[in-house]
Amino acid sequence: MPDAYILGIESSCDETAAAVVRSGEQVVSNVVASQIATHQPYGGVVPELASREHLRAIVPVVRQALADANQTYNSLDAIAVTQGPGLAGALMVGISYAKALAFALDKPLIAINHLEGHIHAVLLEERQKGNHDLQFPVLALVVSGGHTHLYLAAQKSEGWTYENIGHTRDDAAGEAFDKVAKLLGLGYPGGPIIDRLAPHGDPSAVKFLPAQMKHPDRRDRRGQKEAETDRPRFDFSYSGIKTAVLRYVEIHDMRHSIEIRRKALANVSQPKLEDYLANCDQQTLDLVASFQRAIVEDLVGKTLAAARSCDVATLFVTGGVAANNELRRTFEREGAQDGLPVQFPSRSLSTDNAAMIAAAAYPKFLAKDFASMDFSADASLLLR
Ligand code: KG4
Ligand code: ZN
Repeated sequence: MPDAYILGIESSCDETAAAVVRSGEQVVSNVVASQIATHQPYGGVVPELASREHLRAIVPVVRQALADANQTYNSLDAIAVTQGPGLAGALMVGISYAKALAFALDKPLIAINHLEGHIHAVLLEERQKGNHDLQFPVLALVVSGGHTHLYLAAQKSEGWTYENIGHTRDDAAGEAFDKVAKLLGLGYPGGPIIDRLAPHGDPSAVKFLPAQMKHPDRRDRRGQKEAETDRPRFDFSYSGIKTAVLRYVEIHDMRHSIEIRRKALANVSQPKLEDYLANCDQQTLDLVASFQRAIVEDLVGKTLAAARSCDVATLFVTGGVAANNELRRTFEREGAQDGLPVQFPSRSLSTDNAAMIAAAAYPKFLAKDFASMDFSADASLLLR
């Protein structure tokens, strides 16, 4: 089989990304244009602004990815694009552009689930390191701003299949990081900031009860009871801990100092760790460290319980929150105690990127599983 060069395009949230990947195993180029500066003043992603920024960035980002890869539009073998889940308007920008390219160039078009992309970020880098032997069953934790999902991943002749065995009942773990950072006047996105501040606080200072991360029942957000299966489920819940942080802030009268910090940091164009530290008292640092510890222990504990229950041979941890230092260390330590290898993507492929989309497209390219020109964005696309 000759090499296949696939252009991946990703625009599901607040990064406009394009990448070229060779045969699902080598990142030839990887360009990510972040919209952090646009959304920062609002403390979160504003969907309307995200679509506009994608429109502005998509053409130069794709051009850059081709130039970095020494490829031309014509030398590509296929074009892959994120279909969902994500923000509908944001997804539409990438999809419209990918369709136009595929039509004009007469190249195959491949539609990719963003969550499958996160899983393939791990596979891509393992192959890039020369590791082609994967031990099944594989369990993947996809933990990001929008998702905290556990999938059993299996390889079938025609490609990959996924079985969801757990997901968050309310907020995703990354969403909790972002909301707590916003609440504490630390800015957006919260995960990377809390990650860097936590080592400066005492993680045992504030106790969060396990009940604050317990989901009340098996009903999903729409209130429908899910089909019971034989397999136990391993669900998560992170809205309670956010409320617990809010209560802590109120009980300890932290509002005023938070406002001062918010204003001070808003005046620094790209705050560095020293800027954050200079504006945080010890109580805030302790709160941040305790919050992160509670989330990490919950994620690792539930995921390893699922891994044991399903007797998995390999664990993947991927998505934006997988960039978190304490999460990585804890998974590695506790996975090793169980004799379970834990694989992460590099930090740059943990957060949203298009290399993972191009990598996930390769098995579909081989299977000629192409999208028709009339497929549409699906904001809540399921992975199966
Ligand atoms: O995968 P991603 O880039 O986008 C989504 O698909 O959501 O994940 C973004 C999320 C954000 O919530 C961000 O705060 C979180 O990942 N994140 C982190 C870290 N880096 C990004 N959370 C904790 N620690 C980090 N180092
Ligand atoms: Zn993502």
